[in-house]
Amino acid sequence: MESGLRGMVVWFVVALLLISSSVSAQGFNSEVDALIAFKRGVRDPDGRLDSWDATSVDPCTWFLVTCDSNNRVQRLSLGRTGISGTISPTFGQLSSLQYLDLMGNKLTGRIPPELARLSNLVALHLMQNELSGPIAPQLTRLWKLQFLNLSNNNLSGRIPTGGSFSRFSSDSFQGNPGLCGAVIRKPC
Ligand SMILES: *[C@@H]1O[C@H](CO)[C@@H](O)[C@H](O)[C@H]1NC(C)=O
Ligand SMILES: *[C@@H]1O[C@H](CO)[C@@H](O)[C@H](O)[C@H]1NC(C)=O
Repeated sequence: MESGLRGMVVWFVVALLLISSSVSAQGFNSEVDALIAFKRGVRDPDGRLDSWDATSVDPCTWFLVTCDSNNRVQRLSLGRTGISGTISPTFGQLSSLQYLDLMGNKLTGRIPPELARLSNLVALHLMQNELSGPIAPQLTRLWKLQFLNLSNNNLSGRIPTGGSFSRFSSDSFQGNPGLCGAVIRKPC
């Protein structure tokens, strides 16, 4: 009797494990999670992110998202979509991302220093938002970065120098009254 009960408990545990592993194999994609975290942190009055569904196998069919041939997110084209809110630090997990365009929205808060993990990033367009706070020095380590535009925000503090930032002129930083640094000829 007691060993029969133990056997039933063992089978019950095995069944639970099987069910939970099939659920996670079907529903888990870290890039889906990273993008859904962003969606949850913004207001999207025009419903531009409506196709962004947390239960998707990958985000490659979503509006404004482009993947590479390995189904990894390569481009996010979220410029002029009317969204407000903050830039999620989880964007730093999109390790194949090459092109991030969030220009012309109403984004507030900091540029997450986690974006420095995007080692394949070529273009970062954040101009014409309401971003504030400092520019993290770690961002100069985005060594593939060719296009940077942080203009017309409310960023403040010293503009970091060196690394890929040596490629950029005042044209990448203009229209942020609180910024200072040699590149914009404003001493700190
Ligand atoms: C700009 O940022 C400063 C802090 O650096 C803040 O006090 C001010 O309210 C911000 N201005 C706007 C228009 O958001
Ligand atoms: C950045 O965007 C502003 C408009 O906000 C534009 O005037 C400027 O030329 C752009 N700079 C670069 C480097 O593309």
